[in-house]
Amino acid sequence: MSDLITVSRLCRSFGSFQAVKDVSFKVGRGEIFGYLGANGAGKSTTIRMLCGLLQPTSGSAVVAGADVARDPEGVKRRIGYMSQKFSLYPDLTVFENLDFFGGAYGLSGRALRSRIDEVLDELGLRDRSRSLTSSLPGGARQRVALANALLHNPDVLFLDEPTAGVDPASRRDFIALVRRRVAQGTTAFLTTHYMDEAEYCDRVGLMVAGCLKVLDTPSALKANHVPGALFEVRTARRGDVTAALNAIQGLATIQRIGAGLRVRYDPSPGRDRVAESALAADPDAVVEAAEASLDDVFRAVVDQEAQ
Ligand SMILES: Nc1ncnc2c1ncn2[C@@H]1O[C@H](COP(=O)(O)OP(=O)(O)O)[C@@H](O)[C@H]1O
Ligand SMILES: [Mg+2]
Repeated sequence: MSDLITVSRLCRSFGSFQAVKDVSFKVGRGEIFGYLGANGAGKSTTIRMLCGLLQPTSGSAVVAGADVARDPEGVKRRIGYMSQKFSLYPDLTVFENLDFFGGAYGLSGRALRSRIDEVLDELGLRDRSRSLTSSLPGGARQRVALANALLHNPDVLFLDEPTAGVDPASRRDFIALVRRRVAQGTTAFLTTHYMDEAEYCDRVGLMVAGCLKVLDTPSALKANHVPGALFEVRTARRGDVTAALNAIQGLATIQRIGAGLRVRYDPSPGRDRVAESALAADPDAVVEAAEASLDDVFRAVVDQEAQ
C-alpha cells in the first residue's frame, strides 16, 4: 500500500509551549485513520500542519506527494479540509456556498456546476441546495461542510472533529459517508473525541499532551492495552458495591458508567470473585462480562501516563 501521509518527527511549539512533540506515523492510500485525544492534546495543531496551514517547528510531513513546509500550496490543492470550526457562510444557500468555495479551488463554469451536483447527490443534499445554510440542522450542515471539502476530488480528506455536537444518528450517517468515500480510494484523516467513532477507523493514534502514545488497529489496541477481563455491574447500591470490590486483590479499575460500574479485573478469570463480592454487597446486583472499548484503551494509556 502506498503511503499518502508520511509524518516524521513532527514538532510544533507556540513560544516555549510544545503543542506537538516528535510525532511520526504513516497513513496508506484508502485508509481511514483516527487521531484521538482529549481537548488540547495537539490534534488540530497536527492537522493544520498536515494541511499546509501551519509551519512545523521541526520535523517533516509529506502529504499526497507534497512537502507541507516547502510546498504548502501543492498540499492544499490535493487535500480537502474540514476545520473544527464551521467555516461556511451561514447567510448563503448551500448551493451558493459550494459555488463560492468551488471558485476558490479554481473550478468554474459547467465543470463546477456538475461537481456541485455530484457532491450534493453523494451526500444526500440535493433537496437542500436552495436552503439557507444557517437553517439546516446540525447533521446536514456538517454534510455541506464535507461536500465543500470534496468539491475538487481530493486524494486526502482531513476532518477535524467533524461530528462534534451532532446527534448520534447523524454522526453515524456522517461516518458512513466518509467510509463510502474511503472505499472508493480516498484517504481520510479524522480527529475525534468520540471513541465509538474511532471504532470505525482502520487504525487509531492516541495523542496525550502532544505525544503520539500508541498507534494500531482498534482490535490490537484493545488486546494490548486492556489486559484482564471486564465486567459491568448493574446495581442500585453503587457505593456499597464499590467498597466491596475495592477490597478484592487484583482489581485494576472501577469506573462509574450510567447506572452502574465498569470493572477491570486483572488477571482473568476473576468473574466469580467479582460477582460474589458485588452480590454480597447488593443481592440484586447483576454482573455481566463486557467487551473492551477504545474508551478502556484511552483510560489505560492515560492512567499509565499518570503513574
Ligand atoms: N496559535 C496558538 N497559540 C498558542 N497556543 C496554541 C495555539 N494553537 C494551539 N495552542 C495550544 O496547543 C495545544 C494543543 O491545541 P490543539 O492542537 O488545538 O488541541 P486539540 O485539537 O487536540 O484540542 C493547546 O494547549 C492549545 O492551547
Ligand atoms: Mg482541536
